[in-house]
Amino acid sequence: VDSVRGEIALITGGAQGIGLGIARALAGAGASVVLVDIDGEALRAAEAELSAVTTVATAVLDVRDRLEWLTVVEGVETTLGPIGVLCNNAGVAGRAPVAQMSYEMWDWVLGINLGGVVNGIQTVVPRMVGRGRGHVVNTASGAGLGIPGPGGGAGFLYHSSKYAVVGMSESLRSELAPIGIGVSVLCPGPVATNIQDTSPRTRPGGAPAPSAAFVAARKQLLAAGASPDAVGEMVLRAIVHDELYIHTDRIMEPFVRARSEEILAAMPPA
Ligand SMILES: NC(=O)c1ccc[n+]([C@@H]2O[C@H](COP(=O)([O-])OP(=O)(O)OC[C@H]3O[C@@H](n4cnc5c(N)ncnc54)[C@H](O)[C@@H]3O)[C@@H](O)[C@H]2O)c1
Repeated sequence: VDSVRGEIALITGGAQGIGLGIARALAGAGASVVLVDIDGEALRAAEAELSAVTTVATAVLDVRDRLEWLTVVEGVETTLGPIGVLCNNAGVAGRAPVAQMSYEMWDWVLGINLGGVVNGIQTVVPRMVGRGRGHVVNTASGAGLGIPGPGGGAGFLYHSSKYAVVGMSESLRSELAPIGIGVSVLCPGPVATNIQDTSPRTRPGGAPAPSAAFVAARKQLLAAGASPDAVGEMVLRAIVHDELYIHTDRIMEPFVRARSEEILAAMPPA
C-alpha cells in the first residue's frame, strides 16, 4: 500500500510497547486501527488514547487461539471493512538453560512468537490475496538475524522463534510480491518496553524463572533502547515504501556479518 490513509490496520500485541508505537504511527498517518491483545486492561487505555486520533476497535485475543482469530477478523471485516495492514507483533521473551528446558517452555514461546504469526497469516492473508492488496509486518527481532555475544544471546528458544519469523517473512514476501502484497519483518534491537514484566504472565507454571540479576540487567538494556514510538515510525515508512527488513539500530551488524561469512566459508570450493 502506498499510503496507510483510510486503511484498516490490525496489530497484535497492540496494547502497549512496540505494538502501541506502531498503532500510534499508523493512526497518526490516517489509518483505522484494530488493537488485539491478551491484556484487556492495557487495551482499554490504548483505545482511550487513540480514539482521540482515529477509529479504534479492540479485541481481547490470545494469538494462539485459532478459532478466536477467525471470530475477530470476521467481525472486523464485517463492521469496519477489509484489513489492509496486518502487524503480527505479539511476543514474549522466555529462556532457560538447555538442561532445564522443557516442552512447556517450547510450546509457550514458539506458540506465541511463531504460532501467533502463523495464525495471523492463515486467517488474514488469504483474504488479502483475494483482494490483491495489503501489507504484512511480522515482528521478529535482531535475535532472528544472528547470535550476539557469548552465551547464546537471547537464548536458543527465543532465537529459534525469531529466526523462524525472519525466514517465513522472506519467503512469504517473494510469494506475495507478484500478487501486490508487501511483507516486512521488524528486527529490533533493544526497545524500551515492559516485555520483561509482561512475558512472565503467560510463562508456564513450574518453568525456571531467570535470576533477578539477569532480569534487572535486561531491563536496564531495554530502557536505554529505542522508543516504541520511533520504532512505530520506522514501521510506517517500511510499509509505505514496501521494505523487507526493518532495523532499529546497527547492533547486530558484526554478528550478521560473521554469520554470513561463516556460512559462505563452509561451502565447498567452486
Ligand atoms: N523490546 C525489545 O527490546 C524487543 C526487541 C526485539 C524484538 N521484540 C519483539 O517485539 C514484540 C513486542 O514486544 P514488546 O517489547 O513491545 O513487549 P510488550 O510486552 O511491551 O508488548 C507485547 C504485547 O503483546 C501482548 N501479548 C503477549 N502474549 C500475547 C498473546 N499470547 N496474545 C496476544 N497478545 C499477547 C502483551 O500483552 C503486550 O501487550 C515481541 O514480538 C518481541 O519479541 C522486542
